[in-house]
Amino acid sequence: MLRYLDVAAKPLAGSRGRAAGTLVLIHGFPLSARMWEPQLVLSELGWRLIVPHLRGFDDGPAGRSATSMNDNAGDVIDLLDALHVEQAVIAGLSMGGYVTFALLRNAASYFQGLVLADTKSQADAPEGVQARQRMQALVRDKGPDAVADEMLPKLLGESTRRQQPDLVEKVRAIILANGAETIAGALTAMMTRPDSTATLSTIKVPTLVVVGEEDTLTPPPLSVEMHKAISGSELVRIPEAGHMPNLEQPAAFNAALTTFLARRF
Ligand code: MLT
Repeated sequence: MLRYLDVAAKPLAGSRGRAAGTLVLIHGFPLSARMWEPQLVLSELGWRLIVPHLRGFDDGPAGRSATSMNDNAGDVIDLLDALHVEQAVIAGLSMGGYVTFALLRNAASYFQGLVLADTKSQADAPEGVQARQRMQALVRDKGPDAVADEMLPKLLGESTRRQQPDLVEKVRAIILANGAETIAGALTAMMTRPDSTATLSTIKVPTLVVVGEEDTLTPPPLSVEMHKAISGSELVRIPEAGHMPNLEQPAAFNAALTTFLARRF
């Protein structure tokens, strides 16, 4: 079973100790559940948080990831079943969004709501697949450090890199807790994932789409497209944030989630 963080809901006044619901947070590449640390305070809204490390992530050099999004989705379902969670608001950032699309295709009944952060519905284009293959060669040859050097300027926005050098080092440390084969396997899962654009119009649950204004990996127009294709969805753009607005601007990201959860559930 996946390793995971489980943060109990802080009971709200008048709730008779019942949780408002369960919020599942699925991390991006090449990170781990540790990237969601600034969101753990959301348990104070009365939500239980379940935050998995996808298979192999945060396991050091011995780690081995799943090599398809369906396998990642199966791992998440096994975890929810083991915890007797029948429905949850499921949030995925970037690669976590790709896992979420696989969950929607295979297990839509588990969704009470959906959050898509800095992700996209399209599959990789041929040049994207080639870039993934180059990164697999790089990680096997030079190790996770070289991947961190290549990914950090893409993960964190220009404002963050200028103003928050400590955060750059924190994200590097999260990346370096992953082994080379975990990173290589996740690249296979991403480059072979199907296009999920047709899934968007099938989504019937309350949905929030969030994106950092400075995201260059999955730029804001891709989030606008998803928002338009998902009936009744909301879109929030986070200023001064790149691909990881939850870490770069946690107050604004948490405010977006808080408003969404309070209004729609
Ligand atoms: C991620 O943040 O999960 C990845 O950058 C996604 C991707 O490379 O497609």
